[in-house]
Amino acid sequence: MSTASKQRRVAVIGWPVAHSRSPLIHSYWLEIYGIPGSYDRIAVAPAELAAFIGSFSDHGLIGCNVTVPHKELVAQLVKIPDRETARLGSVNTLWMEDGELLATSTDGYGFLQNLHSAAPDFTPGRHTAMVLGAGGAARPVIAALQSAGVAHIYLANRTAERAAALAAKLGEGIHPIGWAEIPSRLETTSLLVNATSLGMTGGEPLVIDLAPLPSEAIVADIVYVPLETDLLRQARARGLRCVDGLGMLLHQAVPGFERWFGRRPEVTPELRALIVRDLTG
Ligand code: ATR
Repeated sequence: MSTASKQRRVAVIGWPVAHSRSPLIHSYWLEIYGIPGSYDRIAVAPAELAAFIGSFSDHGLIGCNVTVPHKELVAQLVKIPDRETARLGSVNTLWMEDGELLATSTDGYGFLQNLHSAAPDFTPGRHTAMVLGAGGAARPVIAALQSAGVAHIYLANRTAERAAALAAKLGEGIHPIGWAEIPSRLETTSLLVNATSLGMTGGEPLVIDLAPLPSEAIVADIVYVPLETDLLRQARARGLRCVDGLGMLLHQAVPGFERWFGRRPEVTPELRALIVRDLTG
């Protein structure tokens, strides 16, 4: 067998997929740990998704990441061994095991790890969280906070029915509130998370006044373009602890790399700087 054929091949699939920074992250780890392998982008159109998953190993892949808009649909096409991901119904990490394609979601893990590293004293049980958003990105964040033991989670979404449906699906401890109720609930919120697409460069702004938040509150944004969103700028100006979205992206990549390439990689300042350069360059 040639060296090239022994290399493990992994990719990220999405539609579009050109924006994904996952190849940069994984290629960096492959290089610094001296592991033979590759990580590419593969654009898979929605109409081709089921066929792609059905013939997964024919593509020479040992695993892949899944990004928007495929996370929910792929969850229906593969075997999900862990209950937490099964209840989520969304996957981002796939691997072949004994000839079978298995999947999990590391998004919630990435969110929590990033939160813990940015706010080391974060003690879930002491927090009342408010999550803005009830879309695909919000789902793993809410489930992870719930599983970690956050006592109360207010869930605010522009479309109230979506928040109600998600709260009903995820169960205990999640309280849907109206979008208009956000200001009046901030006073009792100790962890605020933006999990909407608001605040992204070129998109609509997130208009919120953080003045009522308690001074010990933590503010997290899953948006990472720009790196410092208006929400985080406002939080920083108030002296609140801030957690940016890039850390979640970096941390969610760790379990996949370990599974595919057999080494648990580290999220370092150097890796972060590499991605920041790519985002801002
Ligand atoms: P993603 O997978 O990135 O979460 P999504 O499922 O389309 O994408 O969800 C986007 C989120 O941003 C939703 O919570 C959406 O609210 P709706 O469910 O009401 O659509 C939220 N969002 C997008 N534009 C918004 C806006 N102008 N005001 C408030 N919320 C908005």
